[in-house]
Amino acid sequence: MILSVNVDHVATLRQARLGLEPVPAAAAVLAVLGGADGITVHLREDRRHINDSDLAILRQMLTVPLNLEMAATEEMIEKAILTMPDMVTLVPEKRQELTTEGGLDVSSQGERLKHAIKRLHDAGIEVSLFVNPSIKDIEESHSIGAPMVEIHTGTYADAPTPHQARQELDKILAAVQRAVQLGLKANAGHGLNYHNIQAIAGIREISGLYIGHGIVSRAVLIGMDNAVRQMKNLITQVRRP
Ligand code: PXP
Repeated sequence: MILSVNVDHVATLRQARLGLEPVPAAAAVLAVLGGADGITVHLREDRRHINDSDLAILRQMLTVPLNLEMAATEEMIEKAILTMPDMVTLVPEKRQELTTEGGLDVSSQGERLKHAIKRLHDAGIEVSLFVNPSIKDIEESHSIGAPMVEIHTGTYADAPTPHQARQELDKILAAVQRAVQLGLKANAGHGLNYHNIQAIAGIREISGLYIGHGIVSRAVLIGMDNAVRQMKNLITQVRRP
């Protein structure tokens, strides 16, 4: 199971003063030293944290796969084809949201997503769809040609009671199993932290975890390499045979 570390919020801190520090690419290097298997950034339409130059620098210097989260717009598809990240995760995007609020609406956006998947795939970029833990969305993702999905774990992470968390976990498990049954690669992410990771990491069919805010929050206090190392330890503890 791989861990891709999202460094968006290093850029959020920089943008708080519209200056040059801290540098997301430097955080990415430390994340890799701490054991990150990949780096993720979300290039938003409003460039509120990661900007085009961060993306270009990361593309040039990373020794691990770069995952670009983006909306399925023409502007972003062209940007991705020019930049050639190893992978693109298509996400829904609203200007007013604090963070990505939910998975893609695969049924209403089917044609647009299908077109984006094809163009990116033809350019040689792996594509993943960020979807809610819903069997219908998994089946629709498969039917429009997505080879991979990332299951949204935010509702699980935000569940107000252990009982609700258990119910959300069951939905995630069912969605992951359906994806794998259909031949899709299944990843998971959003809202994962040091307290809620192990139940998700224990789902053996999951190929990759995509974590940002939880790791960056700890990195501010103990350093990025240590923060990633601690997360990797929690993941490997539950993945031992
Ligand atoms: N996966 C996707 C598709 C996301 O949009 C985000 C947030 O950018 C994450 C994972 C990481 O979420 P978090 O920052 O809550 O760990």
